[in-house]
Amino acid sequence: MAKLRVAMAGCGLIARQHLEGYRRSGRAVVEALIDTKEENSAQFAKEVGGSPKIFNNLTKALEWGEFDAVDIMTPHDLHFDHALACMKANKHILLEKPMATNHRECEKLLTAGQDHVTQNKKVFMIGENAQYWPEVVKVKEIIDSGRIGDVYFAKASYWETKLSSPFMKDVDGSTHWGCDPSRVGGGILMNGSCHWLRPLRMWLGEVGEVVGTVSESAYEGMPAGYETQAQALLRFKNGKTACFHGMYASHALSDTPFFQVYGSKGEITIGGGFKGGVTVYDREHVNGESQGPALGYVESFPPEIEAFVSAVLDNKPLDADAMYCSGEPRIAWAIYRSLESKRFEKVVWDS
Ligand SMILES: NC(=O)c1ccc[n+]([C@@H]2O[C@H](COP(=O)([O-])OP(=O)(O)OC[C@H]3O[C@@H](n4cnc5c(N)ncnc54)[C@H](O)[C@@H]3O)[C@@H](O)[C@H]2O)c1
Repeated sequence: MAKLRVAMAGCGLIARQHLEGYRRSGRAVVEALIDTKEENSAQFAKEVGGSPKIFNNLTKALEWGEFDAVDIMTPHDLHFDHALACMKANKHILLEKPMATNHRECEKLLTAGQDHVTQNKKVFMIGENAQYWPEVVKVKEIIDSGRIGDVYFAKASYWETKLSSPFMKDVDGSTHWGCDPSRVGGGILMNGSCHWLRPLRMWLGEVGEVVGTVSESAYEGMPAGYETQAQALLRFKNGKTACFHGMYASHALSDTPFFQVYGSKGEITIGGGFKGGVTVYDREHVNGESQGPALGYVESFPPEIEAFVSAVLDNKPLDADAMYCSGEPRIAWAIYRSLESKRFEKVVWDS
């Protein structure tokens, strides 16, 4: 296969980041665009260039079928059906997070995904860009080097304000799917929080149990009762702990670091705001030593897309398989259970 022929399903916000990834890869060509809103696919077609075929639903695109892979970037409640349809049509799949909005569909999709990989010999990758976030990868390297000693605790602070976030402009008004918990599968915990939970798992290990609370922050445009703030304590299977705080806001916010990782010999931070930057604090650098240029969150997308292209074209194993990627929604579901029980809840890995 010379170039990967891709159909992009869902021509919204995140499609722009994926497109940049395909461009930088240079080993993919966008053959089809799929969006129920024709104005969205028409506008995106101008940005894509060339002459991709445009479809207003996935079924019609799969009937045409002149592509190898589908990049699914539709609202969360459609992920399950869209992924199953692409499996049935024997296509390689990149599915944006979260893989499903509930436990039952997640388990079914994992089973179908396993068959897709082993029997159809096709790639089933879940899009979790934090796996490739340059600052997150850098922190992992520093931890593995032993520079901050034994890591015992971390704080993850996910915050987005409409005043500066590139991702929140579009989530406004009760008509957007992102404002509807039944379409999202919850609130902030089932949305951007996963990108802060993944790094914790990469650095500290697998999460065993969690307890949390959710509430409403000051965020204009969300319906009353929508969970725009969440906090949780995470206890890892190896005994380490972390705390997570996630918040959407419309007002100004300080530059709270996105991550603070504490070890027996020092601390590592990732700067807040999507600009990034890693700093190490240790005995020799009590005021901190910057670890090279800040690359930032959006630079996570090109390597994520390259990982997908390479999985198909070069047979390169995935950095995180679908089962591993179900970890973030499983953590969110355990936090939701803890709201009822008011105690630590185990992260459930089997049905
Ligand atoms: N990794 C990240 O940082 C990140 C950031 C934002 C969004 N996302 C994820 O990307 C996905 C899409 O989010 P978004 O922000 O781009 O949403 P969006 O609303 O901007 O775009 C979604 C697009 O899907 C289209 N659509 C709706 N129903 C459809 C259907 N049945 N068939 C085809 N197209 C349909 C909509 O018209 C819209 O153009 C979600 O899974 C979201 O969680 C990830």
